[in-house]
Amino acid sequence: MSVVITGPTDIAMVGLAVMGQNLVLNMADHGFTVACFNRHVEVVDQFVAGPAKGKSIIGTHNLKDMVATLKRPRKVMLLIKAGKPVDSVIGQVLPLLEKGDIIIDGGNSHYPDTTRRYEELKAKGILFVGSGVSGGEEGARYGPSLMPGGSAEAWPEIKPIFQAVAAKADGEPCCDWVGPAGAGHYVKMVHNGIEYGDMQLICESYDLMKRLAGMTDKEISEVMGRWNKGVLDSFLIEITRDILKYDDTDGTPLVEKIMDKAGQKGTGKWTAIDALDKGMPVTLIGEAVFARCLSALKDERIRASKVLTGPAIEPVPKSERSAFIDDLEQALYASKIISYAQGFMLIREAANEFNWKLNFPSIALMWRGGCIIRSVFLGEITKAFRENSDLENLLFHPFFKSAVVQAQAGWRKTVARAVTNGIPTPAYSTALAFYDGYRSERLPANLLQAQRDYFGAHTFQILPECADDKKKPNSNIHINWTGKGGNVSATTYDA
Ligand code: 6PG
Repeated sequence: MSVVITGPTDIAMVGLAVMGQNLVLNMADHGFTVACFNRHVEVVDQFVAGPAKGKSIIGTHNLKDMVATLKRPRKVMLLIKAGKPVDSVIGQVLPLLEKGDIIIDGGNSHYPDTTRRYEELKAKGILFVGSGVSGGEEGARYGPSLMPGGSAEAWPEIKPIFQAVAAKADGEPCCDWVGPAGAGHYVKMVHNGIEYGDMQLICESYDLMKRLAGMTDKEISEVMGRWNKGVLDSFLIEITRDILKYDDTDGTPLVEKIMDKAGQKGTGKWTAIDALDKGMPVTLIGEAVFARCLSALKDERIRASKVLTGPAIEPVPKSERSAFIDDLEQALYASKIISYAQGFMLIREAANEFNWKLNFPSIALMWRGGCIIRSVFLGEITKAFRENSDLENLLFHPFFKSAVVQAQAGWRKTVARAVTNGIPTPAYSTALAFYDGYRSERLPANLLQAQRDYFGAHTFQILPECADDKKKPNSNIHINWTGKGGNVSATTYDA
């Protein structure tokens, strides 16, 4: 089929997989003219003759023809597999562009790659935007959450398109400028980490209802439906409600036939690794990633289940079911608050480390609608950061502080019940351990420091109120704990 090239077009899209096609259709619906290209050109022809027919969408069979249709500054968006393909397509598009033109990477790229590409393209006078795109197929078609960052000069050029196609929450677009270099993809990475945490918490709730309260999938679905009308109102609770009531052709819940081995493409793992690199206790996402890893050891778990015993489960009596579910709701809500508090701690640390000026209320608003973690709860986070964008931690905000305090009785009962009955709740448990650690003025790290100094002369500092002439505040002290070791500390040695 011959493709007639006309123009001018507002933006070009490279990559016509599910996300690319839907975002192009969404752009066309909002009055933009879009040129598109796909490596396998038959996909272009099928798209143009099919879903794109009659719309302001132009299919092209090569990048040169695609770029030729574009208005200046040219805007070329890539929605292709992250990694090498992105570098390869940038390399092919680059000779066709001129200074001031814009390349946008809308894939799930790892943010250090985005920062590198931003620097490389900046040196060539090309503006580069790394944008988080969330919301899956539906989102791309009818309103995704978009998290763009990179060359700030590109923002006024792409803003009308991005904000028009993005989801709207409380009348505001779920898209704003995130920050320089890889900031957009950084925020998307943390979004995905939080997505892992939210999903794990919901899965633990399901497991507790099933194994402790003996509830059927339909009954659990009803609970999810009720939760979706309260503080937990969110996309992930909503889809869980629907998944649990979905029956296979034999009339039994399909979900119970699914192999319990979790997959992952790596964005949650990136968040956990980044948290470790930055020394930030983002424990819930870490546990959510490890829970997926543990689930993947299915064969080993089958063998272990035959030999490793646990306590006999004491089922929740029917008369206590309602109180049990209320406690569970509180546990889920409180754990979720901890997870988001941890996520924002990580983003704040990244902003400090990379010297990015990030807009916290906008980040919360971008996640409020369109994306996988969208929820009513993110409206409260937006409000909290709008009141005080320098908020040290969400847990210091009166709304979240009192929410956690009120939820903690149910939260503690839930975790205790899970532990006593031998049901794994890594996300619930780690959230509670973080909360108790975070609110502890004194932790046992004093002993840990002593141990380090004892065996490795790693030195310690003295509490200001215990300082004296020999043990001065803020100085690194080494003690000869046994009388046998030397007086040279590891720090002295290093120096
Ligand atoms: C989104 C999602 C998406 C992600 C999938 C799968 O925001 O639309 O985060 O980007 O790729 O949810 O992720 P895993 O395969 O790692 O679970």
